[in-house]
Amino acid sequence: MTKMNLKLLKNRAKEEIEKVKDLKELNEIFNKYLGKKEELALILRSLERLPKTKRMKIGKSANELKNFLKIEFEKKSQEIKEKIQKEAEEKEWIDITVPGEKPVLGHLHPLTIAKRKVEEIFQVMGFSIIEGPDIETEWYNFDALNIPKEHPARDIWDTFYLKNGLLLRTHTSPVQIRHMEKNNPPLRIIVPGSVFRHEATDPSHEFQHYQIEGLMVDKRISVANLKAIIGEFFRRFFEKDVKFRLKPDYFPFTEPSFDIGISCVICNGKGCSVCKKSGWLEVAGAGMVHPNVFKASGLIPKDWQGWAFGFGLERLAMLKYKINDIRLFRSGDLRFLTQF
Ligand code: PHE
Repeated sequence: MTKMNLKLLKNRAKEEIEKVKDLKELNEIFNKYLGKKEELALILRSLERLPKTKRMKIGKSANELKNFLKIEFEKKSQEIKEKIQKEAEEKEWIDITVPGEKPVLGHLHPLTIAKRKVEEIFQVMGFSIIEGPDIETEWYNFDALNIPKEHPARDIWDTFYLKNGLLLRTHTSPVQIRHMEKNNPPLRIIVPGSVFRHEATDPSHEFQHYQIEGLMVDKRISVANLKAIIGEFFRRFFEKDVKFRLKPDYFPFTEPSFDIGISCVICNGKGCSVCKKSGWLEVAGAGMVHPNVFKASGLIPKDWQGWAFGFGLERLAMLKYKINDIRLFRSGDLRFLTQF
C-alpha cells in the first residue's frame, strides 16, 4: 500500500461525497469507506506487516485520511439536514402578519329580537310573560272562548286536528282562560307563542306564526286603558310616534271587538303597496273580554272587566324591519338572516 493509493482513495471518496443527494446514500458511502471491513480499515490493518518507518508514515496518512473523511461526512450530512429543514420550512411557512380568519358568530333570529323587544316593553309596563301549550284541547281553543262546536267562527280558525282529539292551537287566546282559571285579578299578562292555521301560504300568511296575546283584568278596565297601553307599546316598539285606530270587528270572545290599525310605517300614511294605498295597516285583533269567557274561567262576569288583544309578531317585525314576505322568516336563507 502506498501513499499514492491513499491519495486516490481520498479523491474518489471526496468526489462521491459531493455527489450524494440524501442521508441514505451518504450512509452507504460512509460504510463503504469507513466501515470495519472496508478499504481504509484494510489498509490500516495491513500496516503491521510493514517495516516500522514506512508503517509510521503510511499509518499517519491513513489516519489523517480517516479523520478527513469523517469531517467531510459530517459536513455533508449537516448540509443535507439543513436542506431538508429549509424545504420543510418553505412548505409549512406561516405568515403571522396575515389577518386571522374571523370565526362565524351566530346571532339572534329577527323574530327573537322582535319578541324580546315586545316582552321588554310590556314588562316595563307591569305585565308578566306567560306561556301555554302549543297542543291544545278543543275546549280551551274554542268552546271556552265562546266558540261552540257549530259556530261559523270555527272556520276562520281552521287548524290541524291530532288523532287523539287534541289540536294545534290557532291562537294564543286559550292562555287567557288557562291563566284566569288559576289566578285572581287584577291581571296583566302577555303571552308570546306559536300558533297554527290550516291555510295556504302567501307573502303575508304562514300556516305557523307567532302571536302575542295581551290580557288585562281588573275592577274598572275600559277601552281607554287598552288604547293607552297599545299607544305606548307602538311608540316604544317602532321608536316613533305612530297613529293608530280601533275599527269595529267581530270576535266571539270579546265584546265589543276591534281591529287595531296603525298608520302605515312604510309610507307614513300616504298610501303605498304595503298598506294597499289605504295608509293603514291592521296589526291586531282586540276587544273587551266577553262575559262568557270570564264564566268559562270561573270568574263572576259582573265583578270584572278586562281587555285582550292578539298581535301577529311576524307582522310587527315585518313593519319594523321593512320585510315584504313573511315566508322569509322560516326559510333558513342565510342571505336574509345575516342582515339582522
Ligand atoms: N285570537 C284572535 C286571533 O287570533 C285575536 C284576538 C285576541 C282578538 C284577543 C281579540 C282579543 O285572530
